[in-house]
Amino acid sequence: MRQKIVAGNWKMNKNLEEAKQLIKGIKKGIKNTESDARVVIAPSFVNLNSAIKRSKKSKIEVAAQNMHQAKEGAFTGEVSASMLTNLGVNIVILGHSERREYFNEANDLLAKKVDAALKNNLEVVFCFGEQLEDRKSENHFKVVETQLKEGLFHLKKESFSKIILAYEPVWAIGTGETASPEQAQEMHAFIRGIMEKQYGTEVANAISILYGGSVKPANAKEIFSKPDVDGGLIGGAALKTEDFVAIINAI
Ligand code: 13P
Repeated sequence: MRQKIVAGNWKMNKNLEEAKQLIKGIKKGIKNTESDARVVIAPSFVNLNSAIKRSKKSKIEVAAQNMHQAKEGAFTGEVSASMLTNLGVNIVILGHSERREYFNEANDLLAKKVDAALKNNLEVVFCFGEQLEDRKSENHFKVVETQLKEGLFHLKKESFSKIILAYEPVWAIGTGETASPEQAQEMHAFIRGIMEKQYGTEVANAISILYGGSVKPANAKEIFSKPDVDGGLIGGAALKTEDFVAIINAI
């Protein structure tokens, strides 16, 4: 079922104590919220265990920011899907543009990661989005379509109940420059259209498509008001209690 979701991607921020404080603040902030959106936070691996414990008895769900595709083995520094589920993590972010850009994660690798996540019953927030040059050359629809095809279209229809899409135009991430609500809606409608063509109306209508890229309390409401925008993947503003709570309340 299509759901509203506000997810905070903490990236490489917050030590244990800071993470505790932020969770405490969010819990308090959303206690009486009227928003029916799912609230997700994605702290770094080292803080997942504590975050899981501290999020119990609240509506906060805890996601990982990445994982390795292999079941286990000699992959120094990596974390497997079953290590995550064993902690109580049910969601993993895959394909973030920073993973694609700085760690050379390409669509074929991401397809394997998606498979490993689904095999372990993890829900996947699958990120994708065009670079500034792609948009300038009006190639952005093609780029997004290719990312979806190569990363996800090997999946069976049924798998999409465990997939959340996150459109994050790279030029809007951490830059303070958001896609306009119209640009976001245009791309989200395009994405839903591709999903419909590939998997049918039911899957297309049921999938949640989040927008990410400089979402702030000041612009969240307008972006979230667009019919094909089901929520946000928030970076910088997810690191401040008041901002994150305000964004949750904007949906
Ligand atoms: P900002 O909200 O800081 O632009 O980051 C967006 C993002 O990359 C979330 O995954």
